[in-house]
Amino acid sequence: MKRIRVNTSKPYDVVIERGSINKCGKYIAEIAKSKKAAIISDDIVEELYGETVINSLKENGFECTMFSFKNGEASKNLSVLSDIYEFLCASNITRNDLIIALGGGVVGDITGFAAATFLRGVEFVQIPTTLLAQIDSSVGGKTAVDLKCGKNLAGAFKQPALVICDSNTLKTLTPEILADGMAEAIKYGMIRDEKLFDLIAQHNLDNVDEVMDEIVYTCIDIKRIVVENDEFDRGERMILNFGHTIGHAIEGYHNYINFTHGKGVAAGMAYITRRFAPDLSEQLENCIKAYRLPIDSEAPMNELLPFCSKDKKRESGNINYIVCKEIGKAEIVKTTVAEFNRLMEEA
Ligand code: GLY
Repeated sequence: MKRIRVNTSKPYDVVIERGSINKCGKYIAEIAKSKKAAIISDDIVEELYGETVINSLKENGFECTMFSFKNGEASKNLSVLSDIYEFLCASNITRNDLIIALGGGVVGDITGFAAATFLRGVEFVQIPTTLLAQIDSSVGGKTAVDLKCGKNLAGAFKQPALVICDSNTLKTLTPEILADGMAEAIKYGMIRDEKLFDLIAQHNLDNVDEVMDEIVYTCIDIKRIVVENDEFDRGERMILNFGHTIGHAIEGYHNYINFTHGKGVAAGMAYITRRFAPDLSEQLENCIKAYRLPIDSEAPMNELLPFCSKDKKRESGNINYIVCKEIGKAEIVKTTVAEFNRLMEEA
């Protein structure tokens, strides 16, 4: 078992251990103020792990209830959020109790936002069951729901009280969902760790499980360092958005359907690297392709750029985008939206 302590304004541990989902109640009991918890999940994850989590909580003296919604990004909206609030009310959850997010990034994001806002804040625990959620969205305290006008546009910073990562849960993922998380792992290698990049590049989607524990630990530790340095996303944390400016645009162009977040990030990293660091392109693209992720999208650049100008990283007419000119080193480049558009249209 490994533990990573995240020293943000409210410090917490990330437990990384195969099989930890079976004993999550023991770890949760160590940080809980009461013995009452509400679990939020989706229909697929509930079926896979709901009973395991409930049993472990009960064995450790917890009283718990569970609510699940339909799996998928389309559920990360205000209507499902409202259903979660009503469920928390019906479960008589108080500020001393716990909310547990059991699932992938959608579950973690919407549950975290509910925890940040219900009763003006209730502690929450993340049990991420996808690679993307384990190495990215469950750590660092970004929580959100999507609005009709864009993804993650209503949200809050709310650090969890504990994160429990069990890489055995990755075995039930489809290759496509595992690949989605690998896009973020490749990103961590590109922005901060050449050794990690090489490890990922020496494997592929079919054999990466051999080194998954090392990948999960290293990615979370990189995220820890970045988030500790810039918890509220005003500077260094923006490097985590490598590939995301164009990636989010591609996802938006495809209405967030058929082009998952990981695919968008993979293609986004490839686009930006072709434009600003062409010497690294082949190496990056070979790695992306080994995980059956795209290096392109059929969306024409002139149709993607309007989505980029809605990016949350924009600041009144300016945009921050991330470039890696060497593997393991990221730069934040601030420019005007007009200049960014000009540079990308030339690509
Ligand atoms: N997923 C990017 C961040 O946590 O800042």
